[in-house]
Amino acid sequence: MARSSAPALPRIRVLATGGTIAGAQVQGGRGYKAAAFSVDALIAAVPQLGELAQLEVEPVAAIGSQDMDEATWRKLATRAQAALDDPAIAGVVITHGTDTMEETAFFLNLVVRTEKPVVLVGAMRPATAISADGPMNLFNAIAVAAHPAARDRGVLVVANDEVHFAREIAKTNTTQVGTFASGHRGLAGLVNSGRIHFYAPPVRRHTARSEFAPLPAATSPSESSRPRVDIIYAHAGMGRELIDAAVRAGARGLIIAGVGDGNLSALAQTACAEAARAGLAIVRSSRTGGGVVERNIEIDDDRHGFIASDELNPQKARVLLVLGLTRTCDPHALQEMFFTY
Ligand code: SIN
Repeated sequence: MARSSAPALPRIRVLATGGTIAGAQVQGGRGYKAAAFSVDALIAAVPQLGELAQLEVEPVAAIGSQDMDEATWRKLATRAQAALDDPAIAGVVITHGTDTMEETAFFLNLVVRTEKPVVLVGAMRPATAISADGPMNLFNAIAVAAHPAARDRGVLVVANDEVHFAREIAKTNTTQVGTFASGHRGLAGLVNSGRIHFYAPPVRRHTARSEFAPLPAATSPSESSRPRVDIIYAHAGMGRELIDAAVRAGARGLIIAGVGDGNLSALAQTACAEAARAGLAIVRSSRTGGGVVERNIEIDDDRHGFIASDELNPQKARVLLVLGLTRTCDPHALQEMFFTY
């Protein structure tokens, strides 16, 4: 009997969470319903995927990513870790809504212990739209996850022919397919119809070398048992009311989306300093969307016990602080984490 000498295609586990990539336009309307299609249907619509990998699908959630909460993050991380620990699996692809994809990607980048590729993918247009972007994004994501050079680059996001690092990616436009950008540090690579060009490796610690990986089993299913971290958006003439309200609501940490270099009004600064003295972790990030928030430039962080977010935008600073607070409340130790991840 003749035997094929072709090597077996890599096995990729696809974890489905919902989002526009699985969405359908609403009949007669301008909106769409997220997670209307199963990932099996999305895969069936792209038969060329069968040339790249052997796919196995596992549904984890069927939600719009605005509803991605920490319990779902933990479930997703657990399922991803289980797949990655299986020696037969070469990599994991996660379908996800684009709105909060950067947060989930960064969370997984910190809590999944692996050197295998982990790739998040979504779409800006629903599956039924004219010129839907989901099928090519999915094809490219599977190609990246199946590629040996994608190993040990941390969690990646594939969209619009680009490969982004979880730490660097941000959604920058409400509706356009080119919404994702990777700011100052740039792209992980390009992917053109499955042909991949990787650039420099990631700059900060991730996945296999992260102190948060693997995620320990949750001690309690209750949301309230986890450190509450709120984001507060600064503005000209900001008062202290929202900061005080967050403290009263039981926050253990606050991310200030500060003006400019993470600055905030005198009133807000006083409220934050009081909160820091009461034991809250106060992180100064920036609402500008670029640059570095450094310590002790416009605000005396040493005196107030504040933490500078370094390069992390407010939503990513929140992810790191939620994890950091499971280890320590010491602002110096937390600051070190912001310089490390
Ligand atoms: C979502 O984030 O779930 C909705 C928007 C999208 O996927 O583009």
